[in-house]
Amino acid sequence: MYNSKITGLGYYVPDNVVTNDDLSKLMDTNDAWIQERTGIKERRWVKPGSEDTTSVMGVKAAKVAIERAGIDKDDIDLIVFATLSPDFYFPGPGVQVQKALDIKTVGAIDIRNQCSGFIYGLSVADQFIKTGMYKNVLVIGSEIHSKGLDLTTRGRGVSVIFGDGAGAAILSRTEDNSKGILSTHLHSEGEHAEELALTAPGMGTRWVNDILKDNDPNDESYYPHMNGQFVFKNAVVRFSEVIMEGLSTNKLGPDAIDMLIPHQANLRISQFIQKKFKLTDDQVFNNIMKYGNTTAASIPIALTEAWEQGKIKEGDTVVLAAFGSGFTWGSAIIKW
Ligand code: COA
Repeated sequence: MYNSKITGLGYYVPDNVVTNDDLSKLMDTNDAWIQERTGIKERRWVKPGSEDTTSVMGVKAAKVAIERAGIDKDDIDLIVFATLSPDFYFPGPGVQVQKALDIKTVGAIDIRNQCSGFIYGLSVADQFIKTGMYKNVLVIGSEIHSKGLDLTTRGRGVSVIFGDGAGAAILSRTEDNSKGILSTHLHSEGEHAEELALTAPGMGTRWVNDILKDNDPNDESYYPHMNGQFVFKNAVVRFSEVIMEGLSTNKLGPDAIDMLIPHQANLRISQFIQKKFKLTDDQVFNNIMKYGNTTAASIPIALTEAWEQGKIKEGDTVVLAAFGSGFTWGSAIIKW
């Protein structure tokens, strides 16, 4: 049986830095509150009029990953694109990447699993490689939140958290079964779908004609809604469970973790997990301070930065874990 291995990583974030002080000019918030509750100091938001879109940023990250993998774009057999903020309502951004990279007629899959999107994407790619169907799969997580946030005091519980950015990985076939993606674990609990959601426009809620007809400036359904404390409580439980599930499947304990890359939801969530698994600061990678929560992009950005900084070495056990809207959650256990 084949195994799959990450052979290239890349990320891209817009240049435009938005600090907590910048946000306090738009809404009733302050640097101390944001840092204390979330750990975030600043985030990147695309500048209005910038060429960057979710797919364009995904392409920029992908080009770096492809080059580092040492493959040609035409060696890619499948594109998997995870996002909650696509350029268009349809089609999804996978085909835009295919066009921008000028990759023949390979398949393009769009993943809609929010903060868990990259792990879901990685899992899909892993299955295609393990079954022998494909040799190289491009997995992208990319988001633009800044264009869709409520930047008034009404939206402050959500809008201070999210940032824009993109990350990408090339997953390639290997016959060395001691290395690569050892296992992935996916879960969801639709009962809580509306605890963290953007409900309009939606065919089940309010579609464009309804919105235009009502033309109601107080309509909050265009903005993400989050029951922050409920999300937090579920996140710490599910993160812990799914990390343990991954470790146990591979007959490993928490002491085997060389590097944990948690989805960058909130520094307090990462610190809770770190404490629970008795990990040192060197064993957990966080960059939420600089980028905020970039949902599907957060893990590939963090994984790329950790690798670029030499924090992931050959033979390391690397654990990826995410939790988010859906609720969805997942983990991946990787032997580097
Ligand atoms: N600046 C200042 N005050 C703010 C604020 C902001 N940006 N956002 C909310 N507040 C206020 C609230 O209005 C509330 O005021 P009140 O007590 O007068 O009503 C107070 O701060 C506490 O709000 P609360 O929502 O209870 O804060 P919290 O401690 O739960 O922190 C989150 C809010 C969002 C940071 C926290 O719940 C969280 O991180 N949840 C998980 C989020 C997450 O991970 N989401 C992504 C999942 S992938």
